[in-house]
This record gives sequence, structure tokens and C-alpha cells, in this order.
Amino acid sequence: MTSSIEITSPRDPALVPFDRLVEILLAAFAFQDDIVDPPSSAKSVNIAELQWRFARDTLFLAHDSAGRVIGQVWVEDVGKDAYLYKLSVDPSIQGGGIGKALVEAACAHAESAGKENMRLHVRVELTGNIAFFKSRGFEIAGEGVHGGYDRTTFWKMARPLQLAKTA
Ligand SMILES: CC(C)(COP(=O)(O)OP(=O)(O)OC[C@H]1O[C@@H](n2cnc3c(N)ncnc32)[C@H](O)[C@@H]1OP(=O)(O)O)[C@@H](O)C(=O)NCCC(=O)NCCS
Repeated sequence: MTSSIEITSPRDPALVPFDRLVEILLAAFAFQDDIVDPPSSAKSVNIAELQWRFARDTLFLAHDSAGRVIGQVWVEDVGKDAYLYKLSVDPSIQGGGIGKALVEAACAHAESAGKENMRLHVRVELTGNIAFFKSRGFEIAGEGVHGGYDRTTFWKMARPLQLAKTA
């Protein structure tokens, strides 16, 4: 499966299928509906939001052998680190190595840009996602609380980059 995946990072917004990206996000995050509290921000995503994010951040797309977009991840520059978000794979094709390939592309990009860590947030309820990110070299580095809540609602995870350069 992984061998037929292509990862691209489009620079021209005219080449980005924003409607397909919204479709993937809504489908991929739907499983969280009855699990996470508060609800995921992915539920309210729309094309306009992704367009302004594209102007600010770096987008990586996964394509199948026919060129169809089947996954995405977004990377924000947050100073000395980078921040990974909206990682999502078409549910009909999850478990085939696409998520892993997108995370690696995002981390390679951040590392080559000189970033020290890749950071992300993951909801405390999503133990499967936490296991996925741990398998990709991330560790829990802190905790966070959504506004209006009096308990930890998300973990802050981080993966150190530049390991080869500091070893
Ligand atoms: C999380 C997600 C991006 C992973 O993408 P994917 O293409 O299904 O993952 P991969 O096939 O690359 O999986 C890589 C490894 O992680 C494991 N894994 C993936 N998702 C997992 C989960 N939810 N629970 C446990 N293990 C998981 C796979 O079994 C695989 O293990 P292996 O390397 O030993 O075979 C995808 O499941 C998804 O879109 N989920 C919905 C959206 C979401 O929750 N995004 C993350 C927000 S924090």
C-alpha cells in the first residue's frame, strides 16, 4: 500500500482540492463525535477556513495511484518548533500506512527548516491516536484544558527533530 502513495506539498492554491479536503476531514473525524468533549473543531471546518490556513501554513497531501487525494496534514510554523494538525486519512483506506507517511513528510519538512520539535495536541479520550503518535516518536510533553473545562482535555505531544545533528 505505502509504495503506491505519493505525498505532495502544493504551493499554488489553485491546485488544492479544498472541497475534497473538507470531505476527508468531516469523514475522518466523525468517529470522535460520541467520544470527545468538547466536540472536535474539525466538525465545523469549511473551505474558507482551509483557504486561510493554506495562506499561512504548509499542507501535505497523500494521493493514491490514480492521483486522488486520500489524506492530509497541516503544519504551522510556531517559532523554534512546528505544529502538526488536521492529520486525516479517508476512512475507507485507513490502516494502510498513509497516516505514517504524512507524519514523516511533515517532520522531514520541519526538520529541514531547522525546527527543534514537532508538536501536536491530542484529546485525552483518543487512546488509539495517542498510541499512533507514540509509535511515530511523539511523547506526552504537557497537558491542556479547553476553555470552560476543569479537567485535562488534551495532551500536548512532541517529537524531537534534528536528532542526527545533535548525536
Ligand atoms: C490517525 C490516522 C491519521 C492514522 O492514519 P492511518 O493511515 O490509518 O495510519 P497508518 O496506516 O499509517 O498507521 C500506522 C500505524 O499506527 C497504527 N494505528 C493507526 N491508527 C491507529 C489507532 N487509531 N489506534 C491504534 N493504532 C493505530 C496502525 O495500526 C499502524 O501500525 P503498524 O505500523 O504497526 O502497522 C487516521 O486513522 C485518521 O485519519 N483518523 C481520524 C482522524 C484523526 O483522529 N486524526 C488525528 C487527530 S489527533
